[in-house]
Parts: sequence; structure tokens; C-alpha cells
Amino acid sequence: MNTLTQIRFVWKPLVFLACLIPAVLVVTDAFEITGRLGANPIEAIQDRFGYWGLRFILIALAVTPLRQLTGWNWLTRFRRMLGLFAFFYVFMHFLVWLILDQRLLMSAILEDIVERPFITFGFAALLLLLTMTLTSTLAMRRRLGRRWQQLHNGIYVVGILGVWHYWWQVKLDVREPLIYASILAALLSYRLWRRFRISR
Ligand code: HEM
Repeated sequence: MNTLTQIRFVWKPLVFLACLIPAVLVVTDAFEITGRLGANPIEAIQDRFGYWGLRFILIALAVTPLRQLTGWNWLTRFRRMLGLFAFFYVFMHFLVWLILDQRLLMSAILEDIVERPFITFGFAALLLLLTMTLTSTLAMRRRLGRRWQQLHNGIYVVGILGVWHYWWQVKLDVREPLIYASILAALLSYRLWRRFRISR
């Protein structure tokens, strides 16, 4: 088996299954199979999807720097899948809010999106991720040409909005959002540094 076949038929399915594990754990916990959701299960489910959404955004953003620093070009083959998982987890986070928390009450939903800035930011990030998901196919990449890359650079904005959205809600102890913000800052700084070096 050559490397490409191995990636396609062995590694991609394995990575796919690994990326699904957090969702399976949330669902099994939600059905109280393991009973670990605590006093506010809806909030716990929503938060867990939100954290995984943010983690996958950072993981997807880490692919290019890792590839450039290590020379492992095969990493690129996993980037689309990781980006799609970022969308999947953020979308699940949104659906839990929409259905279980807001109970599909349109007026309350719109009011929250317009009047609570942290939700406005989260919603903007979701819309951007959705656009990237819908245009992530090879056919769309060919059709959009150079604009495709510009659109998909939106993942940087998604990262910033996502971390901001999270930070905004933390009242006192900002240690955890600070960790996410630092990883994001390192990933974005690396890109700026590389662009500066190439332009010189
Ligand atoms: C890239 C997009 C998003 C990311 C990365 C994200 C991430 C997160 C994270 C990590 C939390 C947990 C905060 C904590 O534990 O204190 C959270 C909470 C929350 N998110 Fe998002 N989110 C996103 C989009 C959205 C969207 C689209 C909505 C709804 C329109 C939303 C609504 C909420 C709400 C209401 C909470 C608070 C839940 C609670 O009471 O604990 N988020 N989000």
C-alpha cells in the first residue's frame, strides 16, 4: 500500500472516529449512561460542545504551522476533516442552545443574538464557519479560484470571535480562556512572522 492509499483508507477513517469520541461521550452522558452531567445538564452539554468546537478550530489552525515546521506534508490531507469537525461541534453547541435552552422561541432567539454581544460574536463565527463548510469541496475551490483562499482565511476571524465569545462569559477566573487565547495568539503570530519573513 502506498502512502496516499494508507492515509485514505487507514488513517483518515481512524482520525474520523477519534474526532467523534467527544460527541459520543456527550451523548452517552446525556442519556445518563455514565451520569456525569451534574445539576444543569443542558448547560453542561452545550458547554462541552462549545469547548470541542473551539479546540477543533485551534487544531485546524495548527495544521499549517506544524506542516511547515516539520515537513510533514501529509498533514494537509486532514485539514478539511478537522475544519468540518470544528463546524460540527459548534453547530451542535448552537443546536443545544436553540432547541433545549431557547425552546425554538423565535423572539427570544433573535433578542439574544441582537442584544447579548457574546452571542452576537458566537453567531457571527457560526455563520462564517457555515460559509467555509459549504464551500469546502474541491469543486467549489476550483470555482472560486483565488477568492476561495481569501474566504477560508476567515478561520482566523472565527478563532478570534470564538475565543472572545468564550472570554466574555467568564466572570472571575480567566485562566482557562487565557490558555485558549495564548494558543490562538501563537498560531496567528507564527503566520504573521512567516509572511514578514517571506516578504523580506
Ligand atoms: C465558533 C463559535 C463558538 C464557539 C467556539 C463557542 C464556544 C463556547 C464555549 C467554550 C462556551 C463555554 C463557556 C463556559 O464554560 O463558560 C460557550 C458558551 C456559550 N455559548 Fe458558545 N460558542 C460558539 C458559538 C455560539 C453560538 C452560535 C451561540 C448561540 C447563538 C452560542 C451560545 C453560547 C451560550 C448561550 C453559552 C453559555 C452557556 C452557559 O450558560 O454555560 N455560542 N461557547
